[in-house]
Amino acid sequence: MPTTSAQLYPENCKKITTFTFQQKKKRGEPITMLTAYDYPTAQAVDRAGIDSILVGDSLGMVVLGYENTLPVTMEDMLHHCKAVSRGAKCTLLIGDMPFMSYQVSADEALRNAGRFLQEAGMDAVKLEGGRERLDAVRAIVSAGIPVIGHLGLTPQSVHQFGGFRAQGKTAAAAQRLYEDAFMLQEAGCFGLVLEAIPGQLANLISSRLKIPTIGIGAGIGCDGQVLVTHDLLGLFDRFTPPFVKKYSDLHGEIAVALKAYNFDVEGHIFPGTEHTIEMSEDEWQFFLDQIDT
Ligand code: KIV
Repeated sequence: MPTTSAQLYPENCKKITTFTFQQKKKRGEPITMLTAYDYPTAQAVDRAGIDSILVGDSLGMVVLGYENTLPVTMEDMLHHCKAVSRGAKCTLLIGDMPFMSYQVSADEALRNAGRFLQEAGMDAVKLEGGRERLDAVRAIVSAGIPVIGHLGLTPQSVHQFGGFRAQGKTAAAAQRLYEDAFMLQEAGCFGLVLEAIPGQLANLISSRLKIPTIGIGAGIGCDGQVLVTHDLLGLFDRFTPPFVKKYSDLHGEIAVALKAYNFDVEGHIFPGTEHTIEMSEDEWQFFLDQIDT
């Protein structure tokens, strides 16, 4: 657990790549991933030594205030990815392909995936779905762009699922998910995000795939873990998924700080002399003499 700022700010970090992911899986070392959507958060995640940043389309909910991720556009994603890439030096940067940027055709998927690398400084892209997305995955991978898949509770299908519900809980659903995982590996994905699926299933898939799995609400048996940073920090107070461990209550802390500021301004306490710039007495007198003559 890092305790000093020196430990939190490694000087010579080594750039994490998809190869690092493979190596970590081989060595049985957990892969860490968090979301970030802006420059300061990207810096903080990078400096904490997290392996990867996902610029998730979850930004639609936790930053832009939408009900779900469906309204998020390519332009929204590129805007936030650019800010993140300016803040992160070492982590593997993954841009999340938004709804309708990869479903229409493999050509469109490839063109949009390319924009994440060419315009926004990402190292890889993520897209949701299994067998129905293989053409898109193959097209993107064939252009040399690393793709991470996403199975289970894929939020862009929220209406098909009838809400944000755990997936793969019946034998039939588990079998489909298991098959999809192997198809995505075969199509060239370098890893798979497994979201809100039973721990036994995630564990089995992780132990049988060659590529690493990154779990979110999928138990300890995955090769790595990802969380939405705003959930982990307690910054998003609309709801917290049951699989989230809250490491802080920043929403509460921000409220305390803002109320204190309001109190200080209303009570003529802020700004104090230490926050105020003054001219030298001589210069001030000179100025007064000048304007009065
Ligand atoms: O958009 C996102 O942040 C995600 C993670 C929850 C995996 O897809």
